[in-house]
Amino acid sequence: MIVQVPNVLNSQQIARCREVMNHTGWIDGRVTAGYQSAVVKDNHQLPENSPEARELGDMIVGSLERNPLFITATLPLRVFPPLFNRYQGGESFGAHLDNSIRQIPGTPLRVRTDISATLFLSAPEDYDGGELVIDDVYGAHAVKLNAGDMVVYPANSLHHVKPVTRGVRLASFFWVQSMVRDDGTRTLLFDLDMAINKVNQALPNHGAVVELTNCYHNLLRRFAEV
Ligand code: NI
Repeated sequence: MIVQVPNVLNSQQIARCREVMNHTGWIDGRVTAGYQSAVVKDNHQLPENSPEARELGDMIVGSLERNPLFITATLPLRVFPPLFNRYQGGESFGAHLDNSIRQIPGTPLRVRTDISATLFLSAPEDYDGGELVIDDVYGAHAVKLNAGDMVVYPANSLHHVKPVTRGVRLASFFWVQSMVRDDGTRTLLFDLDMAINKVNQALPNHGAVVELTNCYHNLLRRFAEV
């Protein structure tokens, strides 16, 4: 499932990202691409593990840990340290798939990439093009969000970024290993959690809410790997 998570960052945090990203060295984005992706990848990135990327990445992960929608939509076990990219002057990223396993640099830890995330850091009116287009069984979905908003989608989806023909598109991207690896099961749990919240608001303190919540957690116990 594709889920938009609004307001991951507030305006001060977005400003901090832009300040750091506008005063740092960029490298060719192909450094983190597999050999197939490298052929279609044309953008720039902050060096992985640079102090700048770490500072901003820690800020983003800290915000995600307090974001209920992100947590219920992804059921995160492990979050890959966020990476940062920039597209301008016609740069794009052609159709590709993300690698299934990523090693966290400088650690023995590996992340199985169940979910891909893109956090938009530029205002949509500041650039033309640059839509993230995600293919799923229902077709192609073009995503271009406000600065500070994020999209999460199954990491096995074919996707591409359209050429940025005016202005600059800054974004962060990363992956999540979920406690629930199967997207269909995760979607079911997400839909149940959202429905329980609605029932709870419509019928506060109704006994069935506790029973449904118990069902949710029993399903989570059944499917989660921790
Ligand atoms: Ni990708």
